[in-house]
Amino acid sequence: MNNDVGIDHIAAYIPDHFLSLDSLAEARKIDVKKYHDGIGVKEMSIPTYSEDIVSMGANAGLRLLRESGVDPQDIGLLIVGSESSEDRAKPDATLIHSLLGIGESCRVFNIVHACAGANYGLVSAIDWLLADSTRKYAMVIASDIAIYGIGSAGEPTQGAGAVALLVSRSPRLLRIKEAANFSNNVYDFWRPLKEPFPIVKGVYSVQCYLKAALSCFKKITVNGGYDFVYHTPYPKLVEKVHFEVCSLLGMELDEKINHYKDRVQPANDFSSRIGNTYTASLWFSLLGCLESRLSGMHSNEKEANADRGLYLFSYGSGSGAILMEASPSKDWGTMADYFNYSEEAARRIPLSVEDYEKILSGAGAEIAEFNSGKFCYSGSENHQRKYEYIG
Ligand code: CAA
Repeated sequence: MNNDVGIDHIAAYIPDHFLSLDSLAEARKIDVKKYHDGIGVKEMSIPTYSEDIVSMGANAGLRLLRESGVDPQDIGLLIVGSESSEDRAKPDATLIHSLLGIGESCRVFNIVHACAGANYGLVSAIDWLLADSTRKYAMVIASDIAIYGIGSAGEPTQGAGAVALLVSRSPRLLRIKEAANFSNNVYDFWRPLKEPFPIVKGVYSVQCYLKAALSCFKKITVNGGYDFVYHTPYPKLVEKVHFEVCSLLGMELDEKINHYKDRVQPANDFSSRIGNTYTASLWFSLLGCLESRLSGMHSNEKEANADRGLYLFSYGSGSGAILMEASPSKDWGTMADYFNYSEEAARRIPLSVEDYEKILSGAGAEIAEFNSGKFCYSGSENHQRKYEYIG
């Protein structure tokens, strides 16, 4: 890769509670196989009262700073990508900037582009670094809450979480290159300001995603030896899209099945437990992919796979897509050793369907909750949202 820039480290925040799709299927009187096999989901993370996009994003950002050892004063650009903001004018980034103790000489803003917001943030952060050699670090935070409403078709594809990316020169984790772009004005999924939930044309949104993915992959010479990491609204969609990408490589059905299992599924397995996290989704999939490389899931291939390149495909409804190419740095495992998100997901607390419905109805503060984060949302006064450090 030409430019020695990319992601120095990644840290995530997973909400402390989840809903099992088995419980949801029982409550909705739907065959659970539709959720497990038809959509590919088993659990979804549900944020409680104290977990909004600012507290989740700040928790991911704090972990990023602590694990990377980077001084907050060296962050010169902070971008928050989200489509779940509580305010139309004040950027969430200003609150996160203050919670993390980043200095005042920092460029701080939000980007909205559905599920691709933070990914446009990442390529902008790379451009920012390349424009001036005195700049040290950028932080890009992806934080979202995917909620479609009780009983909606999208209900089993909800989720929540945040991911923070540290962008630098000579990155210790992954070098990143923008490979292809796509943009097309469509109404497949959108969130009018006065609507409580997104409006989504489910089947059409899938077609739009597929068109964007194929358009991007057709613009490059695809290397079938890479891992493929996708924005994952639900794993079954990624499986379908990947089969189409395999067609570009002239694969037969059995080759496609094996390629998917080997090069895509480890990332999807992880997403099937957290659900859709919109702009953070691609990065949770990447964490799943890298964790599985390290965990010995393919232990006999571990050495051979360690330096394999990756494609990162990001899709944002509306629509826009970016295909990035990533190459692991020599000692990427040193930073990846911090990843233990599968274990963290396993430690979450299950919610009953009744409590989940109370949370969605806005009565989340009444649910007794455990909070493992360092920051929490503590309520609003005079329309100003307040956050506490709970350590
Ligand atoms: N056993 C096994 N499979 C079953 C089954 C059973 N008993 N019952 C149904 N299925 C299968 C169906 O055959 C179908 O499979 P195919 O897609 O292969 O045909 C699958 O389960 C889903 O069933 P339906 O098509 O009936 O599903 P639905 O009408 O309930 O809607 C959905 C599914 C469109 C994904 C809906 O959950 C939704 O609207 N989700 C939100 C939109 C979304 O995620 N879009 C993705 C692209 S947009 C994007 O990427 C941005 C973003 O993040 C939002």
